[in-house]
Amino acid sequence: MIAGGRPRILLMHPILEPGPSILAEAAEVIAYPNNQPLDEAGIRQAAEGCVGIVSQLMDPIRDTVLSTPGLKCVSNVAVGFDNIDVAAATAHKVMVTNTPGVLDDATADFAFTLIMATARRVVEADHFTRSGQFHGWAIDMMLGHDVFGATLGIVGIGRIGRGVAHRAKGFNMRVLYYDPMPLPPEAEQQLNATRASLDRLIAESDFISVHVPLTPETNHLISTAQFNAMKPTAILVNTSRGPVVDEAALVAALQEKRLAGAGLDVYEREPAVHPGLIPMPNVVLAPHIASATVRTRSEMSAMAARNMATAVRGGRPPNLLNPEVKR
Ligand code: DGY
Repeated sequence: MIAGGRPRILLMHPILEPGPSILAEAAEVIAYPNNQPLDEAGIRQAAEGCVGIVSQLMDPIRDTVLSTPGLKCVSNVAVGFDNIDVAAATAHKVMVTNTPGVLDDATADFAFTLIMATARRVVEADHFTRSGQFHGWAIDMMLGHDVFGATLGIVGIGRIGRGVAHRAKGFNMRVLYYDPMPLPPEAEQQLNATRASLDRLIAESDFISVHVPLTPETNHLISTAQFNAMKPTAILVNTSRGPVVDEAALVAALQEKRLAGAGLDVYEREPAVHPGLIPMPNVVLAPHIASATVRTRSEMSAMAARNMATAVRGGRPPNLLNPEVKR
C-alpha cells in the first residue's frame, strides 16, 4: 500500500498530461504490465498493495478487483462506468469516480459528424474519389439524405443528448426526445425539443441518435421491434455504448433495408465489430473516438487524476459516484 512512505496507485493505461503529473505528485504510480491479460484476475494481481486504480472503459472492475485489501478508489477515465460494479465497490467501501461534463461537446460534435457523414455518404464518396472512379459529374451520383429540416430523435436527453439537440437547431431540425426524465419546459422550448414515447420517436424520426448510459434497462433498447418500426429512410447513430443497440438485429435490418444506414462509434463486443457491418457502404464505422479531441482527452485525464489525487490524500473526490462511501 505504502512504498517508501508513498501510497501506490495502479495506472491501467497511459493518460494525457497533465494527468500523469497530477498523479505523480500524489502517489507512486505503477503501470499495468503490458503483457498481463486485461481480465479481473490480472487486474487484481497488479492492484495488490495499491490504494487506487486509474481505469478505462475496457477494464473489468468487479468484485475480484474491488475486494483487494487496502483499495480506496477507482477513478475511471470516462463518463460511462458500466465496466465497474459500483454496488460491489460500495460494499467494499471503495470510492468510484468518473469524468462527466468535459466530453459533452466533443461527443455531441461527433454524433453530428456521424449523422452528416452517413446521410451524405462521405466515407463512400471519399473511397470512390480516391480509387479513381470519379469520371465526371452525374445527376444521380451518390445521392444521400437531407439533414436540414429533418426530424431528429434523441434517445436520452442528458448533457450529450442536449448538446446534439442544440446543434440540431442550426439545421432547423424538428427534435423529438425520449427520456424517463422530462426536460424542464424552458429547456424544451430553448432546444425546440418535444418529449415522445420511444415508439413515436422511432416511427417519426429521420435520424435517431442514442445517448443513454448502458444499464440492464438500456441493454438492447434498440432491437428488432424498433428496427421494424423505423422509416426505411432512417439513419441510426450510436455514440453511447454498443450493447444499447442489438448489433445482430441491426445487421439483419440493414440487410433487409428496414433502415437506410447507421453511423457507429461503439460496438456490442468492442473492439470486435459485427462482421456483417464491414462490407456495408451505408454504414460509417469509427473506433470509439467520439470524445477524442486533444483538449477533451487531456481534460478527461486531468479530471480523473484529480479525482484520484483527492482520494489518495483522504478527501472526497469531486466526481464521486457512490457518495455513501465517503460522507
Ligand atoms: C466515455 O467517456 O464514457 C466515452 O465512451 C469515452 O470518452
